[in-house]
Amino acid sequence: MKKCLILVNAYSRLKSSLNQSARLKEEFSSLGVRAEVRPNDFFACEVSEGGDIVRTAEDYDFCVYLDKDKYVARMLEKCGLRLFNPAEAIETCDDKMLTAIALSGCGVAMPRTLPGLLCYNPEEEVKEGVLDEVERRLGYPVIIKTAYGSLGSGVFKADGRAELKVIAEKVKCMPHLFQRCVAASAGTDARVIVVGGRVIAAMRRQSAGDFRSNLELGGQGFPLVPDKELTKLCQKVASLVCPDYCGIDVLFGEGGYLVCEVNSNAFFGGMEKVTGINVAGAYARYMYGEVYGA
Ligand SMILES: Nc1ncnc2c1ncn2[C@@H]1O[C@H](COP(=O)(O)OP(=O)(O)O)[C@@H](O)[C@H]1O
Ligand SMILES: [Mg+2]
Repeated sequence: MKKCLILVNAYSRLKSSLNQSARLKEEFSSLGVRAEVRPNDFFACEVSEGGDIVRTAEDYDFCVYLDKDKYVARMLEKCGLRLFNPAEAIETCDDKMLTAIALSGCGVAMPRTLPGLLCYNPEEEVKEGVLDEVERRLGYPVIIKTAYGSLGSGVFKADGRAELKVIAEKVKCMPHLFQRCVAASAGTDARVIVVGGRVIAAMRRQSAGDFRSNLELGGQGFPLVPDKELTKLCQKVASLVCPDYCGIDVLFGEGGYLVCEVNSNAFFGGMEKVTGINVAGAYARYMYGEVYGA
């Protein structure tokens, strides 16, 4: 019997997250693969006193890793389990600053970005000199992001110095970044899904009252047929950081597309609804091909 493990975050109760594993399970079942959905709370591996990583989970042919816990991901891989996505891809995409660094030097346009300074002491005030530099290089409005945010929750906009200072104070002890606000793209962007190096679905997202277009914040999705440039860009980005499966956010810059972020664990429920494209099916077939051959 062909079987796979779908690992999900142990604490997430998000509907989109439950939908993700349920849809994949359904698609695997039609391919003859038994998928077991398990929350990532059973210590699938441990470091033994003999100095090895020992797997306590039963044997699976592969694992769809819908969590972002990098430790368990790395441990499972070290035990020889094939993960979709691989631990390295998840780690790179989970951290927006690491993603930008990984994509740099490869001809991928991105908004001008400064890494935030890490502060280890909440009592320390954000340095005025840092704010001066952010202001000088990026102007206003300016975007501030926590490196590990998702669903729009760690993305802020400051219209002036006072606001910038308040936000910078809030995020100073977390990994974060400052980014030029791409005004031409305010409230709208493209979400593109790439599976196995091919663009398989895309939508334009539009928010009515927020500069962030995330569907979870009330943004609306519209089907989008990506032009050649967007297709080529997204296939390149995926091949650089997350070739198996990802959802790429692309801003509409004044001079062309600008890559905003890469989501290794992109929810596909909204995309399936908006476009009618069976994203889970495409992803399940791709994984099947990779593991068992076409
Ligand atoms: N530099 C920017 N300029 C304009 N809008 C932005 C910029 N960065 C992000 N946004 C908007 O905010 C949304 C969320 O930002 P993103 O980096 O994708 O974080 P998240 O991981 O929370 O989705 C984007 O989809 C986009 O609509
Ligand atoms: Mg995003």
